[in-house]
Amino acid sequence: MRVIQHIDDLRSQMHGQNRVAFVPTMGNLHEGHLSLMRLAAKHGDPVLASIFVNRLQFGPNEDFEKYPRTFESDCDKLEKEDVYVLFAPTEQDLYPEPQMYRVQPPTQLGDILEGEFRPGFFQGVCTVVLKLFACVQPRYAVFGKKDYQQLMIIRSMCRQLALPVEVIAAETVRDVDGLALSSRNQYLSSDERAEAPHLYETLQNAREKVLTGATDLRTIEQKAMQHLTERGWKPDYVAIRRQSDLLEPAIGEDVPLVILTAARLGGTRLIDNLEV
Ligand code: PAJ
Repeated sequence: MRVIQHIDDLRSQMHGQNRVAFVPTMGNLHEGHLSLMRLAAKHGDPVLASIFVNRLQFGPNEDFEKYPRTFESDCDKLEKEDVYVLFAPTEQDLYPEPQMYRVQPPTQLGDILEGEFRPGFFQGVCTVVLKLFACVQPRYAVFGKKDYQQLMIIRSMCRQLALPVEVIAAETVRDVDGLALSSRNQYLSSDERAEAPHLYETLQNAREKVLTGATDLRTIEQKAMQHLTERGWKPDYVAIRRQSDLLEPAIGEDVPLVILTAARLGGTRLIDNLEV
């Protein structure tokens, strides 16, 4: 695997490649990320991964400074996968001057759910992803369903801007107890780690209620929030939405749904979702 830092070097290395499968990450890689590399290899060739902790997508009170940076062990993990190039730019490489041109996602998709609780987050994500796409020029790009709204927004960005990139969705990889793998799980104390799988259990319970015909989705959401609160969580939202656009389904509307949640456990904010 070749590690490339500068955009110019990346361009010359990738010249003439037109089936590149790209997996952007912020590093601190776990099995979830590695499953994306494997899925990428099924679609394109070569596989190119990136590691860049993108300041633009962190709010002023978020964990940019303390976000875990584990470059050496990330490289070891990627060496074992079928990854041809790791693009690892510094901030100086990617943002040599203040990034004044930004990609603003539409309000109805970008300002709800995660966007409501993390203002500016999706603008930061879209801006860096578009820029990474410009550097890498991939044919395919793989994103995890773990970040469901992010995946949808990147998809719609590619569609609306006619980017020649096919977005591929990867299933969420979970620990044996159901907790979705996340770089932020390591912030959890051992008590919190024991409690953490209840977030997924709450989603499963809500899904069960929807499947058994409960039609009052607001009540299911509220009960789920209440349940989490009683167990010591501080939920931002539990939301049952249409898979197609993440908007609320009309009463009785029979369309594919997804249940999304974000909740804080101690100082750690976890997100998860489950398709119905
Ligand atoms: P990061 O959180 O490092 O995630 C990189 C990719 O891995 C994303 O597509 C994410 O959805 C996926 N992923 C994370 N945990 C996963 C899991 N348990 N199972 C499956 N996939 C998982 O998401 C970002 O970085 C950034 O916002 C980025 C897109 C790189 C832009 O900066």
